[in-house]
Amino acid sequence: MIARKKLIVTGANGFVAGSVLAQAGAEWLVHAVSRGEPLARHEQLHWHTCDPQVPAQLDQLFREVKPDAVIHTAALADIDFCQKHPELAREVNVELTRALASRCAAAGCKFVLCSTDTIFDGEHAPYAEDAQPGPVNFYAETKVAAEQIAVGLGAQAVVARLSLVVGLPVMGAGNSFLAKMIASWKAGQTIGATPREIRTPVDVITVGQALLELAAGKQHGIFHLAGKDRLNRLEISHQIATRFGFPKDLVISQGVVPSPGRAARPRDVSLLNAKTCAQLQTPARTLAEGLSLILKMSETPLP
Ligand SMILES: NC(=O)c1ccc[n+]([C@@H]2O[C@H](COP(=O)([O-])OP(=O)(O)OC[C@H]3O[C@@H](n4cnc5c(N)ncnc54)[C@H](OP(=O)(O)O)[C@@H]3O)[C@@H](O)[C@H]2O)c1
Repeated sequence: MIARKKLIVTGANGFVAGSVLAQAGAEWLVHAVSRGEPLARHEQLHWHTCDPQVPAQLDQLFREVKPDAVIHTAALADIDFCQKHPELAREVNVELTRALASRCAAAGCKFVLCSTDTIFDGEHAPYAEDAQPGPVNFYAETKVAAEQIAVGLGAQAVVARLSLVVGLPVMGAGNSFLAKMIASWKAGQTIGATPREIRTPVDVITVGQALLELAAGKQHGIFHLAGKDRLNRLEISHQIATRFGFPKDLVISQGVVPSPGRAARPRDVSLLNAKTCAQLQTPARTLAEGLSLILKMSETPLP
């Protein structure tokens, strides 16, 4: 029997992590790391409730698991919260990345960091994998710092920059704007969406598949996990409403309303992904294809 490779997934209760946990194949023994109670446990999935920011707990985790790979999804990903709480954002997004990266270096294991399209300034799109970051808010600054730590590990590390991720939580909860949209529509409420912000949305199922492929493979450096379509938020919301059977007029076009404490957003962070497509088997998908996967996954019971 071939020994399974051991995978640590941080931020296990989050949106992206749920897709990774649900899709990890039989080649992996998965160790989910979360501050919360287990969402699931089975022969292939071990759950570690701990605080990864406590060095002794992280050391114990690495001693116990001896991972072959780490997919680091844990982060403070709320842009406005990060702007208001810069110290906390730095502790979680930068220092936790540093702590994990140094343990991966010592253990000789693969490190896959989830980063973001919003590290770019939004004025020079589309951005290839080797384009220069230009953060316009504090969240993006912390992600650029985290990327530099990961890149510093050389051939052991991957930075996976995620575009706007569309999907329903597969396990757990987390940061799904689609779930919030659908809840509003079900309550008969409209949602606002701005045509000013342009993205290359990617579905959460494809993101999970690509992260697992990057964790298993020999790829290193920067990758763009982006969809094939370049769309503004109004177009994205219209497509989602139609696909989920809601009237398009439940989406209202609105400008960006500056409000106290609201951090700046980059305008157009469309990602190019030629390098990523050349090195990954997981395909880039259109939003329509991604929505089909999301609907199919929502109808399939988890193992
Ligand atoms: N969703 C998107 O559209 C998107 C786009 C670009 C990039 N990303 C990046 O992708 C990654 C995953 O995003 P997501 O949407 O899945 O976010 P999420 O749903 O908010 O999940 C992030 C997880 O991080 C963990 N976490 C939060 N605060 C923490 C703290 N103080 N200490 C330790 N862990 C903490 C939590 O996991 P536990 O509760 O289990 O501890 C949380 O569930 C992030 O790195 C994010 O920056 C996301």
